[in-house]
Amino acid sequence: MNYEAVLAGLPDAVIAVDTALRIIFWNSAAEVLTGRSARRAGGRVLKDVFPVEAPVVRRLMETLATGESRSEPESIVDTTDNRQLPVSVVTAPLFARDGSVEAAVAVLRDLSRIRQLEGEVRRGETLAAAGRMAVGLAHEIRNPLGAIRGAVQLLSRELGPDPRLREYTDVLLTEVDRVNRIMEMLLDLARPVQLKAVPLNLHQLLERVVLLTEENARAGNVVLVRRYDPSLPPILGDEDRLLQVFHNLVRNAMDAMKGGGRLTLTTRVSLDPLFGKMDLGAGQRTMVEVLVADEGTGIPEAVRARIFDPFFTTKDRGLGLGLAICHRILEEHRGAIHVESAEGRGTVVTCFLPIAK
Ligand SMILES: Nc1ncnc2c1ncn2[C@@H]1O[C@H](COP(=O)(O)OP(=O)(O)O)[C@@H](O)[C@H]1O
Ligand SMILES: [Mg+2]
Repeated sequence: MNYEAVLAGLPDAVIAVDTALRIIFWNSAAEVLTGRSARRAGGRVLKDVFPVEAPVVRRLMETLATGESRSEPESIVDTTDNRQLPVSVVTAPLFARDGSVEAAVAVLRDLSRIRQLEGEVRRGETLAAAGRMAVGLAHEIRNPLGAIRGAVQLLSRELGPDPRLREYTDVLLTEVDRVNRIMEMLLDLARPVQLKAVPLNLHQLLERVVLLTEENARAGNVVLVRRYDPSLPPILGDEDRLLQVFHNLVRNAMDAMKGGGRLTLTTRVSLDPLFGKMDLGAGQRTMVEVLVADEGTGIPEAVRARIFDPFFTTKDRGLGLGLAICHRILEEHRGAIHVESAEGRGTVVTCFLPIAK
């Protein structure tokens, strides 16, 4: 049995040190996790690679000193590109024939993926709670609003053709209609909808969004770029709901590129380790990705955590429901939505959708 090969293939980072804390083993997952190659790490002292106060260093030292295993379910590793990666750490001693501790092994598991999933679930819960509140509110508001609308219509008939007065009643009617539309959107967010999922050609669907965007894009100096995978299989989705998603995402991309730029629509079969497959009840199903990428302002770190919250907006005339609705719709499809953004450079929103099989 080639144990080195087994360890090398593990998805968890495995690091072994001798009693002098010199690195004697560093598998490929450790290379990926820390951003340091085995060649650069091997033979070095652990403290040259990690800060002395790093939890993995401390735990390995404890294990070497006591011969006992240690574990830390929530820890952090600093990567070479200055990211702080959430990891779990477990250490174990390796004993020599005479029973003394000869070395220690640490196993580090990257938790960022799991954290991302947890975030998705939490996001869904917030939306559900906001939705329940919205339904109650919407019903309370819609009835009086209907009464106001009716009364204004009567009033405008009574007032006759005086254009100055007519202007007032027109404002009343448009604004009442605006409130009504907001209420409709809110209800949309909250209502448990019955998806009409059928096999869909994703590219035809995207082209319909493009068609409605083209004129605005030209006026705003935005170039629409398509990167479609021609071999993409049909997806399983609700056409109207998905049109809503991509309209929202494309509009956000346009809003972020006031000075123009490229708006790229990409489709591909997902190879994502976590979201690339989804269980729809009858076994695993492959997912496809639709990427809506812009070269706009990007999303500041402080804003990132809130963009899916209902009514969160940074725009003067924004409603802040676009992404909340997108999240909702993708969740209904058993898909997912991810946002990656670099301030000043742009944003990529990735939607995961199941294939029709
Ligand atoms: N492509 C993007 N580029 C930059 N910021 C974005 C992008 N998409 C969304 N955002 C941010 O997320 C916020 C919420 O978006 P959304 O839910 O669609 O509501 P709205 O568009 O009405 O503001 C926006 O106000 C904006 O700050
Ligand atoms: Mg929007």
